[in-house]
Amino acid sequence: MVFVVLETSELDFENRIVSPDADKSDNEIDYSLRPKTLGEYIGQDKVKENLRIFIEAAKGRDEPLDHVLLYGPPGLGKTTLSAIIAHEMGVNIRITSGPAIEKPGDLAALLTNLSENDVLFIDEIHRLSRSIEEILYPALEDFALDIIIGKGPSARSIRIDLPKFTLIGATTRAGQLTSPLRDRFGVVFRLELYTNEQLCDIIMRSSVILAIACDRDGAMEIARRSRGTPRIANRLLKRVRDFAEVMGNGKITEDIAKIALDRLEIDSLGLDSLDKRVLNMIIKGYGGGPVGLETLASAIGEESVTIEDVCEPYLMQLGFLSRTPRGRCATNLAYRHLGYALKNEDCEQQSLI
Ligand code: ADE
Repeated sequence: MVFVVLETSELDFENRIVSPDADKSDNEIDYSLRPKTLGEYIGQDKVKENLRIFIEAAKGRDEPLDHVLLYGPPGLGKTTLSAIIAHEMGVNIRITSGPAIEKPGDLAALLTNLSENDVLFIDEIHRLSRSIEEILYPALEDFALDIIIGKGPSARSIRIDLPKFTLIGATTRAGQLTSPLRDRFGVVFRLELYTNEQLCDIIMRSSVILAIACDRDGAMEIARRSRGTPRIANRLLKRVRDFAEVMGNGKITEDIAKIALDRLEIDSLGLDSLDKRVLNMIIKGYGGGPVGLETLASAIGEESVTIEDVCEPYLMQLGFLSRTPRGRCATNLAYRHLGYALKNEDCEQQSLI
Protein backbone atom coordinates (compact mmCIF):
# COMPACT_ATOMS: atom_id res chain seq x y z
CA MET A 1 0.00 0.00 0.00
CA VAL A 2 1.31 3.46 -0.84
CA PHE A 3 0.55 5.96 1.89
CA VAL A 4 0.80 9.49 0.51
CA VAL A 5 0.32 12.47 2.79
CA LEU A 6 -0.40 15.45 0.58
CA GLU A 7 -0.85 18.16 3.11
CA THR A 8 -1.52 18.19 6.81
CA SER A 9 -4.49 20.11 8.13
CA GLU A 10 -4.13 23.53 9.66
CA LEU A 11 -4.63 22.39 13.19
CA ASP A 12 -4.32 24.71 16.12
CA PHE A 13 -1.13 23.65 17.87
CA GLU A 14 -2.27 24.45 21.36
CA ASN A 15 -0.01 24.05 24.31
CA ARG A 16 -2.42 21.79 26.19
CA ILE A 17 -0.96 18.39 26.95
CA VAL A 18 -4.51 17.04 27.00
CA SER A 19 -5.42 18.69 23.69
CA PRO A 20 -6.80 16.01 21.37
CA ASP A 21 -5.44 17.86 18.33
CA ALA A 22 -2.33 16.44 16.72
CA ASP A 23 0.83 18.18 17.82
CA LYS A 24 4.24 18.11 16.18
CA SER A 25 5.71 15.85 18.86
CA ASP A 26 3.01 13.25 18.15
CA ASN A 27 4.21 12.66 14.61
CA GLU A 28 7.45 10.83 15.35
CA ILE A 29 5.66 8.14 17.39
CA ASP A 30 2.37 8.20 15.56
CA TYR A 31 3.32 6.04 12.61
CA SER A 32 4.84 3.21 14.63
CA LEU A 33 1.90 3.17 17.05
CA ARG A 34 -0.82 3.25 14.45
CA PRO A 35 -2.51 -0.10 14.02
CA LYS A 36 -2.35 -1.32 10.42
CA THR A 37 -5.24 -3.81 10.39
CA LEU A 38 -8.75 -3.99 11.82
CA GLY A 39 -7.53 -6.85 14.03
CA GLU A 40 -4.92 -4.62 15.66
CA TYR A 41 -7.33 -1.70 16.11
CA ILE A 42 -8.68 -1.53 19.67
CA GLY A 43 -12.19 -0.20 20.37
CA GLN A 44 -14.96 1.15 18.10
CA ASP A 45 -16.28 -2.43 17.93
CA LYS A 46 -19.51 -1.75 16.05
CA VAL A 47 -17.70 0.31 13.44
CA LYS A 48 -15.12 -2.46 12.97
CA GLU A 49 -17.76 -5.21 12.68
CA ASN A 50 -19.68 -3.33 10.01
CA LEU A 51 -16.53 -2.30 8.17
CA ARG A 52 -15.38 -5.94 7.98
CA ILE A 53 -18.61 -6.85 6.21
CA PHE A 54 -18.59 -3.88 3.84
CA ILE A 55 -14.92 -4.44 2.94
CA GLU A 56 -15.37 -8.16 2.31
CA ALA A 57 -18.46 -7.52 0.18
CA ALA A 58 -16.77 -4.78 -1.86
CA LYS A 59 -13.68 -6.93 -2.42
CA GLY A 60 -15.89 -9.86 -3.48
CA ARG A 61 -17.51 -7.67 -6.12
CA ASP A 62 -14.14 -6.16 -7.11
CA GLU A 63 -15.59 -2.71 -6.50
CA PRO A 64 -14.41 0.21 -4.38
CA LEU A 65 -15.95 0.56 -0.95
CA ASP A 66 -18.86 3.01 -0.84
CA HIS A 67 -17.93 6.55 0.25
CA VAL A 68 -17.47 6.72 4.02
CA LEU A 69 -18.04 9.61 6.44
CA LEU A 70 -16.30 9.36 9.84
CA TYR A 71 -17.30 11.87 12.47
CA GLY A 72 -16.68 12.43 16.15
CA PRO A 73 -14.38 14.28 18.53
CA PRO A 74 -10.71 14.82 17.53
CA GLY A 75 -7.96 12.33 18.37
CA LEU A 76 -10.07 9.16 18.12
CA GLY A 77 -8.28 7.67 15.08
CA LYS A 78 -10.21 8.77 12.00
CA THR A 79 -7.04 8.96 9.89
CA THR A 80 -5.78 5.67 11.32
CA LEU A 81 -9.05 3.94 10.53
CA SER A 82 -8.97 5.30 6.96
CA ALA A 83 -5.46 3.93 6.43
CA ILE A 84 -6.66 0.59 7.79
CA ILE A 85 -9.60 0.58 5.36
CA ALA A 86 -7.19 1.16 2.46
CA HIS A 87 -4.86 -1.54 3.77
CA GLU A 88 -7.68 -4.06 4.18
CA MET A 89 -8.97 -3.21 0.68
CA GLY A 90 -5.42 -3.64 -0.69
CA VAL A 91 -5.35 -0.16 -2.24
CA ASN A 92 -3.46 3.12 -1.86
CA ILE A 93 -4.57 6.04 0.29
CA ARG A 94 -4.04 9.72 -0.42
CA ILE A 95 -4.48 12.05 2.50
CA THR A 96 -5.46 15.69 2.34
CA SER A 97 -7.73 18.12 4.16
CA GLY A 98 -10.62 20.44 3.34
CA PRO A 99 -8.68 23.70 3.79
CA ALA A 100 -5.74 22.38 1.71
CA ILE A 101 -7.93 22.04 -1.40
CA GLU A 102 -8.10 25.68 -2.43
CA LYS A 103 -8.65 25.63 -6.17
CA PRO A 104 -10.63 23.35 -8.52
CA GLY A 105 -7.27 22.36 -10.02
CA ASP A 106 -6.09 21.01 -6.64
CA LEU A 107 -9.02 18.62 -6.51
CA ALA A 108 -8.70 17.71 -10.20
CA ALA A 109 -5.03 16.84 -9.68
CA LEU A 110 -5.89 14.63 -6.71
CA LEU A 111 -8.69 12.79 -8.46
CA THR A 112 -6.91 12.21 -11.75
CA ASN A 113 -3.89 10.74 -9.95
CA LEU A 114 -5.90 8.03 -8.18
CA SER A 115 -5.75 4.39 -9.29
CA GLU A 116 -8.78 2.12 -9.54
CA ASN A 117 -10.44 1.53 -6.10
CA ASP A 118 -8.02 3.86 -4.24
CA VAL A 119 -9.02 5.76 -1.11
CA LEU A 120 -9.00 9.56 -1.02
CA PHE A 121 -9.08 10.79 2.58
CA ILE A 122 -10.23 14.37 3.21
CA ASP A 123 -9.82 15.47 6.82
CA GLU A 124 -11.93 18.40 8.08
CA ILE A 125 -14.23 17.87 5.13
CA HIS A 126 -16.68 20.43 6.56
CA ARG A 127 -14.15 23.10 5.56
CA LEU A 128 -14.31 22.40 1.81
CA SER A 129 -15.41 25.47 -0.13
CA ARG A 130 -18.79 25.34 -1.90
CA SER A 131 -17.17 25.60 -5.35
CA ILE A 132 -14.96 22.58 -4.63
CA GLU A 133 -17.95 20.66 -3.28
CA GLU A 134 -19.78 21.23 -6.59
CA ILE A 135 -16.90 19.60 -8.46
CA LEU A 136 -16.87 16.73 -6.02
CA TYR A 137 -20.52 15.75 -6.57
CA PRO A 138 -20.18 14.23 -10.10
CA ALA A 139 -16.85 12.73 -9.05
CA LEU A 140 -18.58 10.89 -6.20
CA GLU A 141 -21.67 9.87 -8.13
CA ASP A 142 -20.51 9.18 -11.67
CA PHE A 143 -16.71 9.02 -11.21
CA ALA A 144 -16.40 11.90 -13.64
CA LEU A 145 -14.94 15.39 -13.61
CA ASP A 146 -16.75 18.19 -15.44
CA ILE A 147 -14.25 20.81 -16.52
CA ILE A 148 -15.15 24.17 -18.05
CA ILE A 149 -12.71 25.22 -20.75
CA GLY A 150 -12.54 28.86 -21.87
CA LYS A 151 -14.57 31.85 -20.74
CA GLY A 152 -17.72 33.67 -21.84
CA PRO A 153 -19.80 32.51 -24.82
CA SER A 154 -17.11 30.19 -26.15
CA ALA A 155 -16.81 28.32 -22.82
CA ARG A 156 -17.61 24.64 -23.02
CA SER A 157 -17.69 21.77 -20.60
CA ILE A 158 -15.82 18.52 -21.09
CA ARG A 159 -16.22 15.41 -18.98
CA ILE A 160 -13.19 13.38 -17.91
CA ASP A 161 -13.72 9.85 -16.63
CA LEU A 162 -12.07 9.08 -13.33
CA PRO A 163 -11.02 5.77 -11.83
CA LYS A 164 -13.57 4.39 -9.39
CA PHE A 165 -12.49 5.40 -5.89
CA THR A 166 -13.66 5.68 -2.28
CA LEU A 167 -13.85 9.05 -0.59
CA ILE A 168 -13.41 8.93 3.17
CA GLY A 169 -14.41 12.22 4.73
CA ALA A 170 -13.59 12.99 8.36
CA THR A 171 -15.07 15.72 10.49
CA THR A 172 -15.57 16.74 14.08
CA ARG A 173 -18.69 18.63 13.04
CA ALA A 174 -21.05 16.51 10.96
CA GLY A 175 -23.75 19.13 11.49
CA GLN A 176 -21.76 21.61 9.42
CA LEU A 177 -21.76 19.44 6.30
CA THR A 178 -24.15 20.55 3.59
CA SER A 179 -26.91 18.02 3.07
CA PRO A 180 -26.03 17.32 -0.61
CA LEU A 181 -22.52 16.34 0.50
CA ARG A 182 -23.71 14.31 3.49
CA ASP A 183 -26.21 12.45 1.29
CA ARG A 184 -23.45 11.21 -0.99
CA PHE A 185 -21.83 9.08 1.72
CA GLY A 186 -23.18 5.53 1.65
CA VAL A 187 -21.60 4.68 5.00
CA VAL A 188 -21.64 7.03 8.01
CA PHE A 189 -19.89 6.14 11.26
CA ARG A 190 -19.72 8.08 14.50
CA LEU A 191 -16.56 7.35 16.47
CA GLU A 192 -17.10 7.29 20.24
CA LEU A 193 -14.78 8.25 23.07
CA TYR A 194 -12.90 5.16 24.32
CA THR A 195 -13.52 3.48 27.66
CA ASN A 196 -10.71 3.41 30.24
CA GLU A 197 -10.25 -0.35 29.64
CA GLN A 198 -9.81 0.20 25.90
CA LEU A 199 -7.36 3.06 26.50
CA CYS A 200 -5.47 0.85 28.93
CA ASP A 201 -5.15 -1.82 26.20
CA ILE A 202 -3.93 0.83 23.75
CA ILE A 203 -1.33 2.10 26.26
CA MET A 204 -0.11 -1.46 26.95
CA ARG A 205 0.19 -2.07 23.19
CA SER A 206 2.05 1.23 22.67
CA SER A 207 4.41 0.55 25.56
CA VAL A 208 5.41 -2.77 23.96
CA ILE A 209 6.06 -1.06 20.60
CA LEU A 210 8.06 1.77 22.23
CA ALA A 211 9.86 -0.67 24.60
CA ILE A 212 8.58 1.15 27.71
CA ALA A 213 8.22 -0.93 30.88
CA CYS A 214 4.69 -0.33 32.13
CA ASP A 215 2.41 -2.40 34.35
CA ARG A 216 -1.34 -2.56 33.95
CA ASP A 217 -2.09 -0.39 36.99
CA GLY A 218 0.26 2.27 35.63
CA ALA A 219 -1.40 2.07 32.21
CA MET A 220 -4.85 2.30 33.85
CA GLU A 221 -3.86 5.45 35.74
CA ILE A 222 -2.77 7.07 32.45
CA ALA A 223 -5.98 5.81 30.78
CA ARG A 224 -8.19 7.39 33.46
CA ARG A 225 -6.65 10.78 32.73
CA SER A 226 -6.68 10.57 28.91
CA ARG A 227 -10.18 11.94 28.25
CA GLY A 228 -11.29 8.89 26.25
CA THR A 229 -8.76 9.79 23.55
CA PRO A 230 -5.93 7.50 22.27
CA ARG A 231 -3.89 10.44 20.99
CA ILE A 232 -3.79 11.91 24.49
CA ALA A 233 -3.09 8.49 26.04
CA ASN A 234 -0.05 7.95 23.82
CA ARG A 235 1.22 11.47 24.51
CA LEU A 236 0.85 11.03 28.30
CA LEU A 237 2.58 7.64 28.11
CA LYS A 238 5.71 9.36 26.72
CA ARG A 239 5.65 12.07 29.37
CA VAL A 240 5.13 9.61 32.23
CA ARG A 241 8.04 7.53 30.90
CA ASP A 242 10.30 10.58 31.45
CA PHE A 243 9.29 10.71 35.12
CA ALA A 244 9.70 6.94 35.50
CA GLU A 245 13.23 7.11 34.10
CA VAL A 246 14.35 10.09 36.17
CA MET A 247 12.44 9.55 39.44
CA GLY A 248 11.98 5.78 39.48
CA ASN A 249 13.62 2.69 38.02
CA GLY A 250 12.25 3.26 34.51
CA LYS A 251 9.08 1.24 34.99
CA ILE A 252 5.70 2.95 34.85
CA THR A 253 3.67 1.97 37.91
CA GLU A 254 0.48 3.45 39.30
CA ASP A 255 2.45 5.52 41.83
CA ILE A 256 4.85 6.95 39.27
CA ALA A 257 1.96 7.67 36.87
CA LYS A 258 0.07 9.52 39.63
CA ILE A 259 3.12 11.62 40.55
CA ALA A 260 3.85 12.45 36.91
CA LEU A 261 0.29 13.33 35.96
CA ASP A 262 -0.25 15.42 39.10
CA ARG A 263 2.92 17.34 38.24
CA LEU A 264 1.54 17.88 34.73
CA GLU A 265 -1.60 19.32 36.37
CA ILE A 266 -3.90 16.77 34.83
CA ASP A 267 -6.42 15.87 37.50
CA SER A 268 -7.59 12.40 38.49
CA LEU A 269 -10.22 12.38 35.72
CA GLY A 270 -8.13 14.07 33.03
CA LEU A 271 -9.62 17.54 33.50
CA ASP A 272 -7.22 20.38 32.75
CA SER A 273 -7.46 24.09 33.39
CA LEU A 274 -9.74 24.76 30.40
CA ASP A 275 -12.32 22.18 31.51
CA LYS A 276 -12.19 23.62 35.00
CA ARG A 277 -12.59 27.16 33.70
CA VAL A 278 -15.70 26.05 31.80
CA LEU A 279 -17.24 24.30 34.81
CA ASN A 280 -16.23 27.00 37.29
CA MET A 281 -17.76 29.68 35.07
CA ILE A 282 -21.06 27.77 34.78
CA ILE A 283 -21.17 27.15 38.52
CA LYS A 284 -19.87 30.42 39.90
CA GLY A 285 -20.78 32.80 37.07
CA TYR A 286 -24.18 31.40 36.10
CA GLY A 287 -25.43 29.59 39.21
CA GLY A 288 -24.82 26.19 37.61
CA GLY A 289 -26.57 27.14 34.36
CA PRO A 290 -28.31 27.04 32.06
CA VAL A 291 -25.99 29.28 30.05
CA GLY A 292 -25.78 29.52 26.27
CA LEU A 293 -22.61 28.30 24.54
CA GLU A 294 -21.68 31.68 23.04
CA THR A 295 -22.17 33.48 26.36
CA LEU A 296 -20.05 30.89 28.12
CA ALA A 297 -17.31 31.08 25.47
CA SER A 298 -17.02 34.84 25.64
CA ALA A 299 -17.11 34.79 29.45
CA ILE A 300 -13.99 32.61 29.58
CA GLY A 301 -12.39 34.08 26.44
CA GLU A 302 -12.32 30.87 24.37
CA GLU A 303 -13.64 29.93 20.94
CA SER A 304 -17.05 28.29 21.17
CA VAL A 305 -15.86 25.51 18.77
CA THR A 306 -13.07 24.59 21.19
CA ILE A 307 -15.54 24.27 24.02
CA GLU A 308 -18.00 22.33 21.87
CA ASP A 309 -15.53 19.97 20.17
CA VAL A 310 -12.88 19.50 22.82
CA CYS A 311 -14.33 20.06 26.30
CA GLU A 312 -17.97 19.14 26.02
CA PRO A 313 -17.82 15.56 24.65
CA TYR A 314 -15.63 14.50 27.56
CA LEU A 315 -17.47 16.51 30.22
CA MET A 316 -20.72 14.98 28.99
CA GLN A 317 -19.23 11.46 29.00
CA LEU A 318 -18.22 12.04 32.63
CA GLY A 319 -21.76 13.22 33.35
CA PHE A 320 -20.43 16.64 34.44
CA LEU A 321 -22.27 18.70 31.86
CA SER A 322 -25.73 18.50 30.41
CA ARG A 323 -27.21 20.26 27.43
CA THR A 324 -30.73 21.50 28.02
CA PRO A 325 -32.97 23.45 25.67
CA ARG A 326 -32.01 26.60 27.60
CA GLY A 327 -28.23 26.07 27.63
CA ARG A 328 -25.39 24.23 29.34
CA CYS A 329 -25.66 23.10 32.96
CA ALA A 330 -23.11 21.72 35.41
CA THR A 331 -24.38 18.58 37.13
CA ASN A 332 -24.12 17.52 40.76
CA LEU A 333 -21.22 15.25 39.80
CA ALA A 334 -19.27 18.29 38.59
CA TYR A 335 -20.12 20.19 41.77
CA ARG A 336 -18.83 17.30 43.83
CA HIS A 337 -15.64 16.78 41.79
CA LEU A 338 -14.73 20.47 42.05
CA GLY A 339 -15.50 20.58 45.76
CA TYR A 340 -18.65 22.71 45.67
CA ALA A 341 -21.40 21.96 48.14
CA LEU A 342 -24.23 23.51 46.15
CA LYS A 343 -26.60 21.40 44.14
CA ASN A 344 -28.24 22.57 41.00
CA GLU A 345 -31.69 21.02 41.27
CA ASP A 346 -33.20 23.01 38.42
CA CYS A 347 -30.77 21.73 35.81
CA GLU A 348 -30.77 18.19 37.12
CA GLN A 349 -34.52 18.19 36.45
CA GLN A 350 -34.07 19.73 33.02
CA SER A 351 -31.55 17.20 31.82
CA LEU A 352 -33.91 14.38 32.68
CA ILE A 353 -36.67 15.78 30.49
N1 ADE B 1 -3.22 3.66 18.77
C1 ADE B 1 -4.00 4.73 18.63
N2 ADE B 1 -5.28 4.36 18.48
C2 ADE B 1 -5.32 3.01 18.55
C3 ADE B 1 -6.35 2.04 18.49
N3 ADE B 1 -7.63 2.39 18.35
N4 ADE B 1 -6.02 0.75 18.60
C4 ADE B 1 -4.73 0.41 18.76
N5 ADE B 1 -3.72 1.27 18.84
C5 ADE B 1 -4.00 2.56 18.74
